Amino acid sequence: MEKHIPVLLKETIELLNINPNGTYVDMTLGGGGHSEAILSMLTKGKLYGFDQDAYAIEQASLRLKKFKNFMPIKDNFKNAKLRLGELNVNNVDGIIFDLGVSSFQFDLPERGFSYRYDAPLDMRMDQNQELDAYKIVNNYTYEQLNRIFFEYGEEKYARSISNRIILKRSEKLIETTFELVETIKEALPNKELNKKGHPAKKVFQALRIEVNSELEILEDSLRNAIDLLKPNGRLAVITFHSLEDRICKRLFKELSTIYIPRGVPIIVNEIPLIKEVNRKVVTADIEELSDNNRAHSAKLRVIEKNKK
Ligand SMILES: C[S@@+](CC[C@H](N)C(=O)[O-])C[C@H]1O[C@@H](n2cnc3c(N)ncnc32)[C@H](O)[C@@H]1O
Repeated sequence: MEKHIPVLLKETIELLNINPNGTYVDMTLGGGGHSEAILSMLTKGKLYGFDQDAYAIEQASLRLKKFKNFMPIKDNFKNAKLRLGELNVNNVDGIIFDLGVSSFQFDLPERGFSYRYDAPLDMRMDQNQELDAYKIVNNYTYEQLNRIFFEYGEEKYARSISNRIILKRSEKLIETTFELVETIKEALPNKELNKKGHPAKKVFQALRIEVNSELEILEDSLRNAIDLLKPNGRLAVITFHSLEDRICKRLFKELSTIYIPRGVPIIVNEIPLIKEVNRKVVTADIEELSDNNRAHSAKLRVIEKNKK
């Protein structure tokens, strides 16, 4: 299995401005790449690592077992503030979100994330969750399928793919990744099938985002993370999808701006909750792009909490 190569590692660590005695939270532990880099810079500091995927927790814990100041927590990061509060951790120096999927999730055929392997339709990061790709493909209405393929997958053939799914599943339920790939191919014109790139890529991405509620929970999770930061604490977010990046960009703009209603005299002492550390989004350099395919769509934004 391919090892997960951490994306924008050097840039993220630099911009987090690690305090060796500080408390850090990795909201997306995955293979533990970013966590390992942070832990190796800590002396008295501590790192808490969240992942909703039991296999990620197992793998990262193995990799990081030499660090006594590391604590893995198997949970969705939407619950991080609560879970950390139970441990009396309410103020931290730095937080990282490296969103999306780990390489091993794609590479384990039975997880059903990949169109490259024939497997039951699944795509759940948290395998205790009820909703999976099978339920979506076989139960969602035409309108629901069309919306997720169009919005989350930016699939311009969303309608014809949704139509084809409805037709196929009325004959026999669509149970596997390859049955879904076949159905998608049947809905696409030849010119699309001859293009570079896999014809099912966009639909698989959309399904994964829907199964794991990836966009729905992001804004609240980021707000909670900012609440957790100490003054001067930093938050780094790596996104892989334009909609994810848009959520971060809008939220950071909102929280780093003081809106003064017209006609109201300026209140001099007012400062916004956060400031953006990098005004321009950070992307991978040529060297990283040639080593790591996943780095192509990666965007890093970092903010710092202001002192009140
Ligand atoms: C891109 S990988 C992180 C890789 C990691 N930074 C590394 O260097 O190895 C994203 C990980 O976040 C996890 N994840 C995604 N959304 C999550 C959520 N809402 N709560 C907890 N974990 C999540 C996934 O299961 C996956 O293992």
